[in-house]
Amino acid sequence: MQGPSRRGRKSRGGSDTGEGTRRGPGGETKPVPEGSLATVKTDAAGAAAPGRGAASELQTYRRRGRPLSTARRALKAALLPRLALPLTEPTPDPLGALFDPPRAKVWLEIGFGAGEHLLAQATANATVGFIGCEPFEGGIAKVLAAVEAHALSNVRLHAGDGRHVLRWLPPASLGRAFILFPDPWPKRRHLKRRLLNAATLGLLACVLEPAAELRLASDDADYVEAMLADLARDPAFEVTSVQRRRPADWPPTRYEGKAKEQGRSPRYILARRR
Ligand SMILES: C[S@@+](CC[C@H](N)C(=O)[O-])C[C@H]1O[C@@H](n2cnc3c(N)ncnc32)[C@H](O)[C@@H]1O
Repeated sequence: MQGPSRRGRKSRGGSDTGEGTRRGPGGETKPVPEGSLATVKTDAAGAAAPGRGAASELQTYRRRGRPLSTARRALKAALLPRLALPLTEPTPDPLGALFDPPRAKVWLEIGFGAGEHLLAQATANATVGFIGCEPFEGGIAKVLAAVEAHALSNVRLHAGDGRHVLRWLPPASLGRAFILFPDPWPKRRHLKRRLLNAATLGLLACVLEPAAELRLASDDADYVEAMLADLARDPAFEVTSVQRRRPADWPPTRYEGKAKEQGRSPRYILARRR
């Protein structure tokens, strides 16, 4: 069967300017102050990103968190190079060869935060390979600590923007993808920074296998509505359910716990790649 086309993959050219810089009107590189939002493609932790496309993509996250402890820094220096995706190299064929031992199925989580869901899924599904993407250094360090403590052989990481991974993955290579509680960006002028939009759905449509599941969640009613509208407009997806209760095989996350404590009620969206 022919895999899905590489729709949604735009090659706009241009080069990465890297985190902490932006292009001025004349193309010069200018520093961006800590905590501000760059309008160029950036990757926290200085992770390499593939050159293809998205040079003008908006950043969808803010830098946050305290500096790592000495022990966590040492762990990151020792372990992340072994687990980080080789985004400047071609993808292995089959993709499951990323793992040792190789896995027949690969699932992806973008924006895993502190990693509760990623780690619980990786532990419960040892025969599946997991790719986790997260620019937040504290979250990367937490996952590295758990991978080491539990000798998990089915986790690979990208310490940066998950959209770079979507552009690197081969078509129809993922059995499942999760984007859980992406930053809601509630202010009108920030709506364009939302991670889940028609463009990201296009990238996901390309890399998900036919009948693969896409799982989304949000506690922001407006974002839920926007997600459902984008899914309805995209012929590659069919929404199979929208639930108020988290499905049993869907481990909870930290952000979700806080949202519930604060009285917000999340929605859990399951969609299927046609
Ligand atoms: C609101 S938090 C939710 C974290 C986690 N999913 C949870 O439910 O606890 C959103 C996370 O998405 C991450 N994020 C935002 N944009 C991202 C992107 N383009 N690629 C990867 N992660 C991203 C942020 O760093 C942040 O950790």
